[in-house]
Amino acid sequence: MTIRPLIAGNWKMNGLAASLGEVHALREAQAAPACDVLICPPATLIGAMVAAVQGHPMMVGAQDCHAAESGAHTGDLSAEMIADAGGSAVIVGHSERRADHGEDDAAVKAKAEAALRAGLIAIVCIGETEEERDAGRALDVVLGQLAASLPAGATAENTVIAYEPVWAIGTGRVPEIADIAQMHDALRDDLKDRLSDGASVRLLYGGSMKPGNAAEILAVENVNGGLIGGASLKAADFGAIIAAA
Ligand code: PGA
Repeated sequence: MTIRPLIAGNWKMNGLAASLGEVHALREAQAAPACDVLICPPATLIGAMVAAVQGHPMMVGAQDCHAAESGAHTGDLSAEMIADAGGSAVIVGHSERRADHGEDDAAVKAKAEAALRAGLIAIVCIGETEEERDAGRALDVVLGQLAASLPAGATAENTVIAYEPVWAIGTGRVPEIADIAQMHDALRDDLKDRLSDGASVRLLYGGSMKPGNAAEILAVENVNGGLIGGASLKAADFGAIIAAA
């Protein structure tokens, strides 16, 4: 089965209005990408980025959402607001949210279900810490996170899983290719058991993916794209990863 890869950029807390120049450069350089492309800028730039990608297949998303549709939640954004701003997707359960904001699997699941409710693609992040990997628990931890954060109603159309080893994020370190393959194979088997179309759910790898290692990682069976932080901020780097896909 061929799954159309997704290359997703997570700008994290980076980017001002001037950074939209990178999006203009990217659409020039990648006029007809052979994969799906998504950028998740900070919320302040979602509307402007939606305008900047008009007429190009690139999608825009958010980095988090609240589980509720609206209400007294100062500083939060609902999935409906993201959709209303023209967003197509939202990242939920990124390890930085799990660590900095104490989000557990149940909270992540509720956010993912909010995304589906609003018609957004939920990109659910899971991944082990270095301590967990060293203890030989990586598979257990990651499959446990998947079981507890997968939204009800998940399908290959509305849900994407991003495997991001916490120790690889922003560190320049990446797992051995064999370890990535083992984890993605295990996730695939698990998704096939859970969902009728689990064979088609996109499984992204994330954590220090760069132009120099993207082709090798993206060639791994059951790696159907990437979630890219640092290397998504510059059109040249992100474009090179899109080209590798
Ligand atoms: P990185 O971040 O590519 O900068 O390692 C990946 C992520 O956190 O999604």
